[in-house]
Amino acid sequence: MPDPSSLRRATKASSMVSMADKDYRRFSEFIHAECGIKLPVSKKTMVEARLQKRLRVLGLSSFREYNEFIFSPSGLSEELSHLIDAITTNTTEFFRESKHFDIMNQTVLPHFLASRGLAHPVRVWSAGCSSGEEPYTLAMVLSEFAERTPGFRFSIMATDISSQILEKARRAIYPEDRVAGMSHDLKRKYLLRSKDRSKKLVRIAPALRERISFSHLNFMEEFSFKDPMDIIFCRNVMIYFDRATQETLLNKFCRQLRAGGHLFIGHSESLTGMDLPLQQVSPTVYRRV
Ligand SMILES: C[S@@+](CC[C@H](N)C(=O)[O-])C[C@H]1O[C@@H](n2cnc3c(N)ncnc32)[C@H](O)[C@@H]1O
Repeated sequence: MPDPSSLRRATKASSMVSMADKDYRRFSEFIHAECGIKLPVSKKTMVEARLQKRLRVLGLSSFREYNEFIFSPSGLSEELSHLIDAITTNTTEFFRESKHFDIMNQTVLPHFLASRGLAHPVRVWSAGCSSGEEPYTLAMVLSEFAERTPGFRFSIMATDISSQILEKARRAIYPEDRVAGMSHDLKRKYLLRSKDRSKKLVRIAPALRERISFSHLNFMEEFSFKDPMDIIFCRNVMIYFDRATQETLLNKFCRQLRAGGHLFIGHSESLTGMDLPLQQVSPTVYRRV
């Protein structure tokens, strides 16, 4: 006899509304132009699954109706942020690709101090910050460095295209198991436990939350900052873009990065063959020339 959970899954899959190939092509071209994300036909089932809830919320019974809605002028302004929230992949974790934080401590921050001294705060950007684990990790690493280096100051900007995920990042509340790998010392210094222990939640301490300014930013738009960045983390974001979009974005990052500043990319991303003013420091860390 099939087990009840596989029956439930099968029923759910068969009740899922699907999108005609022609509609999917139009939809994926739109997403590519709007936020850079490539959605080949192999992603169609995933896209359909992620958008079922939007159809339900809007009371629509087909993707044809959904597409008509989003391609109408008023529909687009109402739906775009929900659509982006549904389409983006937000997987992240604290101390993800932890070697990067060793490189920060051993190479990047000493290089910053040697070239810029203590007169200026180091300006760090977590670009594509998702629910906040990356910028809060950076805040912990930089706070620890500051404790060992009197006079060292830093500021962190964290941005994402998804408003919903930014809300989560600002709230800074995480299930306990997300911080299980963190040292006892870091937990004691930077995390608060929920008063109701049965909830098994932690919150980032206010002193650390205050170190980060979160804002909405779509990489497909033009952006420029008053002061250049010293360090940019853009990890596991460009993997969703095609090569031309990646190269355009990387050139934009280079324009915001101070000469001698550093760019960190994800371990499965590569800049090979691109014409960029960057010099490799380690496989996924680059210095602006
Ligand atoms: C997989 S998460 C990576 C989070 C974090 N950087 C890490 O490595 O753990 C990718 C993030 O990029 C964001 N993103 C996708 N397209 C974007 C765009 N066009 N502009 C800005 N952010 C975007 C998504 O919303 C998502 O939160």
